[in-house]
Amino acid sequence: MTRIGIIGAGNIGETVARLALAAGYEVVLSNSRGPGSLASLIANLGPRAAAGTPADAATADVVVLAIPLGAIPSLPADLLAGRIVVDAGNHYPDRDGAIVALSAPGATTSGLVSDHFLGARVVKGLNSIVWAHLRDLARAPGSPERSALPLATDDAAAGAEVVRFLDDLGYDAFVYGTLADSWRTERDRPAYCLPYAADPEVMRSRQAGEAVPPGAPASTERVRAAVAAAVRDDAVTPADRS
Ligand SMILES: NC(=O)c1ccc[n+]([C@@H]2O[C@H](COP(=O)([O-])OP(=O)(O)OC[C@H]3O[C@@H](n4cnc5c(N)ncnc54)[C@H](OP(=O)(O)O)[C@@H]3O)[C@@H](O)[C@H]2O)c1
Repeated sequence: MTRIGIIGAGNIGETVARLALAAGYEVVLSNSRGPGSLASLIANLGPRAAAGTPADAATADVVVLAIPLGAIPSLPADLLAGRIVVDAGNHYPDRDGAIVALSAPGATTSGLVSDHFLGARVVKGLNSIVWAHLRDLARAPGSPERSALPLATDDAAAGAEVVRFLDDLGYDAFVYGTLADSWRTERDRPAYCLPYAADPEVMRSRQAGEAVPPGAPASTERVRAAVAAAVRDDAVTPADRS
């Protein structure tokens, strides 16, 4: 894999682009306003970066989806068929609006993405670390300061490919479950952004628009424990239904 497509060129999309370029990948970045609006960013990123449409980005080996959740329905349902898609999205009602489907028992944001993009090989990931920590905590393989990123997917081969990609970017990634389990790393869960903060309490009380407080490495053991500690009130298991 040498070429990454990124749909969304904001905080998270640009950060992933910079890490991927540093790791030797080619990157195609896209947004809603068209390639022309990305000219200065692309010039800054260098010759292995290109601007395109979401359809251009969708031709890459791995596609990172880094747009507001509320924008997902505006993209064509067949855009990502057959593609490995890293779904970095989170639900922020103030930004995305209320999404009725998310109030169904057991619903997840990655389930919405998977339902919308027919045939996409969705891997939930990159959603549970704030962009500045993703930028700052990347480390070479073997570094004692390496951080870990959690992934969830129904597609083991896609998960393995994304683990390799994130390893190249500077992270020890691991798959903790399926898309149905991905609520464990959604907003307000213990694994959501807090493990990477030097002071989790400062991170927890951060308001929108405030500077990102300093980050600190988070080991696989620590992130796994945070994922396992999540509790969901509305989860419906097969046993509950019987
Ligand atoms: N910020 C973080 O630290 C962080 C960390 C992890 C996950 N996330 C999640 O990642 C997603 C993106 O967050 P962000 O902070 O990077 O947002 P952002 O800075 O606001 O950037 C959003 C990007 O999405 C593009 N976009 C919006 N609608 C689009 C559409 N219909 N088609 C193509 N591109 C579209 C925007 O392009 P235009 O400007 O041209 O509209 C922009 O480039 C959100 O779900 C967020 O919760 C964010």
